[in-house]
Amino acid sequence: MKTLKYILASALCVLVYTACSGNTKTAAEGAEQPAVGQQPLPVDVASKAIVVFFSHAGDNYSVGNIKVGNTKIVADYISELTGADQFEIVIDKYDGMAYKPLCDLAKAEQENGELPEFKGAIDNIDQYETVFVGGPVWWGTYPQVMFTFFNRYDLNGKTIIPFTTHEGSGLGRCVDDVKKAYPKANVTGAFSIYGHDVRDGKASVEKWLNGLGYGK
Ligand SMILES: Cc1cc2nc3c(=O)[nH]c(=O)nc-3n(C[C@H](O)[C@H](O)[C@H](O)COP(=O)(O)O)c2cc1C
Repeated sequence: MKTLKYILASALCVLVYTACSGNTKTAAEGAEQPAVGQQPLPVDVASKAIVVFFSHAGDNYSVGNIKVGNTKIVADYISELTGADQFEIVIDKYDGMAYKPLCDLAKAEQENGELPEFKGAIDNIDQYETVFVGGPVWWGTYPQVMFTFFNRYDLNGKTIIPFTTHEGSGLGRCVDDVKKAYPKANVTGAFSIYGHDVRDGKASVEKWLNGLGYGK
């Protein structure tokens, strides 16, 4: 009975956040299309790049209890395929939390506009011209801790390439939120992939990166 209640609660959580996200692109549709007459600025693949990401290992809706989070797997593919450095946004607040309480906490954080603290710092952000920004979609956009990062680091003037892992929301509001945080950045080439697909998803990531000009 307890298990049944948990499954129902989890399913409800997903239904609600999928409905709230306002964007239900499939993985195949994940690469963001530019509006007509508004081509994305090209990515200078020779520029120094860093992958900034948050990823939550542990109890996960569709892939069980995972040691390595879905977004981290994508971040690792990006670094392997492009040579980009990495900065992982680490926060221990969510360690060991079950899926449903985490959903509730994340929703409250978003509603209250909380900016939870993360560990560590990037050594000289100015050395990077290109920044891949990635995270899971939580309630339609990036987790609040990523907004803490956005508040702390000025990425205006750089090329920002957003990516997400998700279970139905695609890019959700992430691209718009990055553009709002960095109105003077070149936000381009966004990509999303289902969290349950990432372990077999290296070829999709490689295809996306090739489309941006990497690996040619
Ligand atoms: C608190 C929470 C909220 C979530 N909200 C959404 C959502 O709004 N839309 C969606 O498609 N998936 C949502 N998910 C599913 C995650 O985006 C998905 O499992 C993702 O791949 C997790 O990545 P990670 O392992 O790197 O943290 C949510 C998961 C959690 C834990």
